[in-house]
Amino acid sequence: MKLSNLSQLLFCLICFFTLINSASAQTKEQGIIPQPYKVQKGAGIFTFSATTGIELEENINPHNLDFFKHYLKSVSGINPSVNNKLVIPAINISIDSTRVLQKEGYQLIIKQKHITIQGHDETGVFYALQSLTQLIHVVNGKATVPVCTIEDHPRFAYRGMHLDVSRHFFTVQTIKKWIDLLALYKINTFHWHLTDDQGWRIEIKKYPLLQSISAYRDETIIGHKRDSPHRFDGKRYGGYYTQDEVKDVVKYAMQRHISIIPEIEMPGHALAALAAYPQLGCTGGPYKTATYWGIFDDVYCAGNDETFTFLQNVLDEVLPLFPSKYIHIGGDECPKTKWKTCPKCQKRIKEEHLKDEHELQSYFIGRMEKYLNSKGRQIIGWDEILEGGLTPGATVMSWTGEEGGIAAAKQHHDAIMTPEKYVYLDYFQSLYGAEPIAGGGYTPLSKVYNYEPITKELTGDEAKYIKGVQANAWSEYMASPAQAERQLFPRMLALAEVAWMDKDNKDYKGFLKRLRNERPLLQKLNVNAANTFDEITGDIGTAANRQTSLSLNTTLPGGKIFYTTNGSVPGVKSKLYTKPLTITSSGNIKAAVLSNGRQTGRVYEQSFSIHKAVGKTVTLINQPKGTYNTGDISGLVNGVFGNKLYNDSQWYGFNGDDLDATVDLGSVQSVSKLGINILKYHWQKMWEPTQLTFEVSTDGKTYTEVYRQTEFKENGINAVRANIAPTQARYIRVKGTNKGIIPPGEYIAGAKAWLLVDEIVVE
Ligand code: ACM
Ligand code: ZN
Repeated sequence: MKLSNLSQLLFCLICFFTLINSASAQTKEQGIIPQPYKVQKGAGIFTFSATTGIELEENINPHNLDFFKHYLKSVSGINPSVNNKLVIPAINISIDSTRVLQKEGYQLIIKQKHITIQGHDETGVFYALQSLTQLIHVVNGKATVPVCTIEDHPRFAYRGMHLDVSRHFFTVQTIKKWIDLLALYKINTFHWHLTDDQGWRIEIKKYPLLQSISAYRDETIIGHKRDSPHRFDGKRYGGYYTQDEVKDVVKYAMQRHISIIPEIEMPGHALAALAAYPQLGCTGGPYKTATYWGIFDDVYCAGNDETFTFLQNVLDEVLPLFPSKYIHIGGDECPKTKWKTCPKCQKRIKEEHLKDEHELQSYFIGRMEKYLNSKGRQIIGWDEILEGGLTPGATVMSWTGEEGGIAAAKQHHDAIMTPEKYVYLDYFQSLYGAEPIAGGGYTPLSKVYNYEPITKELTGDEAKYIKGVQANAWSEYMASPAQAERQLFPRMLALAEVAWMDKDNKDYKGFLKRLRNERPLLQKLNVNAANTFDEITGDIGTAANRQTSLSLNTTLPGGKIFYTTNGSVPGVKSKLYTKPLTITSSGNIKAAVLSNGRQTGRVYEQSFSIHKAVGKTVTLINQPKGTYNTGDISGLVNGVFGNKLYNDSQWYGFNGDDLDATVDLGSVQSVSKLGINILKYHWQKMWEPTQLTFEVSTDGKTYTEVYRQTEFKENGINAVRANIAPTQARYIRVKGTNKGIIPPGEYIAGAKAWLLVDEIVVE
């Protein structure tokens, strides 16, 4: 850490601790994130003084003390001498792996006159000092820590944070700032995603075009990928880390007990490399570094030996920079389109007696794994490396779900859990309309916090193969450090507790309390953390009489929720929310949390459209797939329209299948308007139906078609509302024909189209 950075950090810590000084001394240890394994509180305090000396066992690198010492000096002016024979030490620091049994563990005993730190290893000592630092209290310029005994160690050996620097590039200075924050929260692995379609970010001297061509793109998409048509900013964008910079970052991280795992992505996500070396692609190009986000058909040719030579040469330069045992070689999202028609790839399949292109992927990964093994390294790959069979020593990084990790563990392969549903920090953390642009999905703080990496499917023996957990940060929509920080914080702190704490010790309420205490620190550290976690969340449910209900929640202690139904901003004079609301008429509910009469956070809004089908029975011929809803199909008729980000659990997705839904109104009624919402985002594989029909029936046997539509123009929500001649009906049947296979020339051609629908409206 540069001294200026450190003093800035320490100054901020001072401000933080001064700020919360007025809080009770007894709860000071509550400030430690992640919460230690065991904290036994005592009575009294230890006070640092000018004569406080430290005895540091000589095999321990004095660098481990830097953070603590700088901080202590900044808050109190005290600079304890280390191993000074003339001073009787008040702080003894040693390593004793026979007394502290767990790796990275430590024991911190604070008595009134003495502090003892014992680490299992140097990392344990470093973490003890991080915790001790967080315990420092300053009263009238005097630095104190509360008497207590802390026994601490991590649950998982692998506690990771990932960062994509291809979609957007972050400077060395920013990376170092974030590494400091990882160390503060005891995260020990930084997964550096260095290559992708939109930019190659690591200097490889043997291949200078990687620097001049692959590191840059002509322009960048504006807005979200799902927008259509795509718009671009017309500005060249790029950058890369020199090998010297990489070495510097790796050393910086190592001093903070963080191992950096580089990711050199293959065989997919390779467009930037192909732009410079087109002979490595199946068609020979020409190719361009990608200017928008997604999955691209052009990948490394698996039939061309030059591909392997290239990648081996690249790794020959990468390995000396990264001492980590693991090298990540990607493996995700590799379309097989080009391999299917490439003579070289087909020849390889034949010669190697492979069954298909999936086994060709396995061949590719296996060949690279052998190479890396020969250099003494082990591979990690995304869960697609399970395709076509797992290669011998591979560690699986489970991202599409938990299944990949489970499958790996069952095959006695190591796995790291990083399921997108829980720990993708590029996803939305709030459903408020005013949220800044993000990747998609919804992973609120509570969802990250409550994630449990050891799933029930695993036996005790199999569970041992789950080495840990990691949060991922893809940077498509993180164009600046500030935007990235808003996505990473505070959810990364929740991840830190998932990775560090025993499952049974976790406590979301306690975490939130510590997190609120942490907010000023994050502010002082110039971390642009999101401040939305105490805002209202709304749960749409079903009341006893099948009417729709809305329950509102806030985690803000003492926060009261007030709401209105007339469009006005809620205040103390509005209705006080006390129990779930039963929604009986259409309208818009606005709610706000008031604390001491003042609004905190943004105003929550939810609109309802109550019509004849709400609460009625709906049946489906094909069951919906994906994670667009909670699995309860009554959401198709609950008076709530799915949002345009399709992340509010209100949508129903049919993957290649048709929609065929029937609503039973319970009695024959007059019907004059039928509707449904359809989502069309070809850039998200979401296609409108080729045909949509409404049929009505009085007996559920004989149906009459009353409406048909074959065009859906909107990119986004197509709200179909068909006025029909008033007719008597009890049953309404809606059929939507799925587009089927996505046609050539379109995004992800050849894949099954999704048909996404919500709310069947009957009036
Ligand atoms: C991934 O998110 N494509 C690993
Ligand atoms: Zn090929």
